[in-house]
Amino acid sequence: TKVGIVFGGKSAEHEVSLQSAKNIVDAIDKEKYEVVLLGIDKQGKWHINNTSSYLINEENPKLIQLNKSNEQVAVVPGAENGQLVNMSRTDGLDQVDVVFPIVHGTLGEDGSIQGMLRLANLPFVGTDVLGSAVSMDKDYAKRLLHGAGIAVANGMTFRKSKQNEIDFVKVKEALGLPMFIKPANQGSSVGVSKVRNEEEFYQGMKDAFQYDQKVLVEEAIVGREIECAVLGNEDPIASLPGEVLPQTDFYSYESKYIDETGAELAAPADLSDELTKKVQQAAVEVFQTLDCEGMARVDFFLQENGELVVNEVNTLPGFTKISMYPRLWGISGIPYAELIDRLITLAVE
Ligand code: DAL
Ligand code: MG
Repeated sequence: TKVGIVFGGKSAEHEVSLQSAKNIVDAIDKEKYEVVLLGIDKQGKWHINNTSSYLINEENPKLIQLNKSNEQVAVVPGAENGQLVNMSRTDGLDQVDVVFPIVHGTLGEDGSIQGMLRLANLPFVGTDVLGSAVSMDKDYAKRLLHGAGIAVANGMTFRKSKQNEIDFVKVKEALGLPMFIKPANQGSSVGVSKVRNEEEFYQGMKDAFQYDQKVLVEEAIVGREIECAVLGNEDPIASLPGEVLPQTDFYSYESKYIDETGAELAAPADLSDELTKKVQQAAVEVFQTLDCEGMARVDFFLQENGELVVNEVNTLPGFTKISMYPRLWGISGIPYAELIDRLITLAVE
């Protein structure tokens, strides 16, 4: 089976995607699957390589040649190297049987690539168009979860076109302080800020509107940050929950990927059997409410009274070295290579 790993992309999470792709390529069972790398650079151009010895580096967009022991031996700029071909999307997709898209955020996680793959008649790992689109948009995801009786943080949604009408005092009266500002369609906490006063509020709104036309302001939920991995289609299963222990103000982009001491991850989370079950059941319920398929990571706050509040859902969760999704399956009895095998099997079944 030829698996096309689509990675990179134009989103703010380009670098995260490169790390995710690298880990997936390293872990995939190469006896069973032939890997075809389909890299999208930051300009949105596609690149193909049919050996797995090249991978786009973390930095803007460059491909590095790795030798057999995974050491970097050369930097290959663009299509100059014979083995690396600039391609049209259809050329690349013609060469594979199934696609594992691991492009986080805009265009990768929001239904765009899923729609393209459907039109190309190719099976792909993960959630289809509708579930991807609604899970990516925090505003719509929250409306749907709320409608299903699942607790989410109180919040307000603002559009860029009405930016001038936003009034700090009114928002503060509704949501209290501190509060969180988030672009509606972003991942990895890009553009997110914690707000304690008027100045931070207006600055935070300005920052968030750089990433999206729609911005959410949410009350701060006091609670432990619990994450749960879900796997499956019709009868999904949930992993043991994990816990994020932020060492900074909140679990920011820096604390996720840059600052090594930024957050500690506990896997499994220190929870009673009863709470573990409750988290797992809730995660599956969220997964199904949002029409997820294949995989998703569901992030919660666990309040002191034992109630769970859904923070967000990630339909293409990170697969970086520190990422929770593969790690939670690892401690739940599904090692990395098997997890990837299962995800591909779920895509083609
Ligand atoms: N959005 C990042 C990749 C995550 O949720 O893991
Ligand atoms: Mg996310």
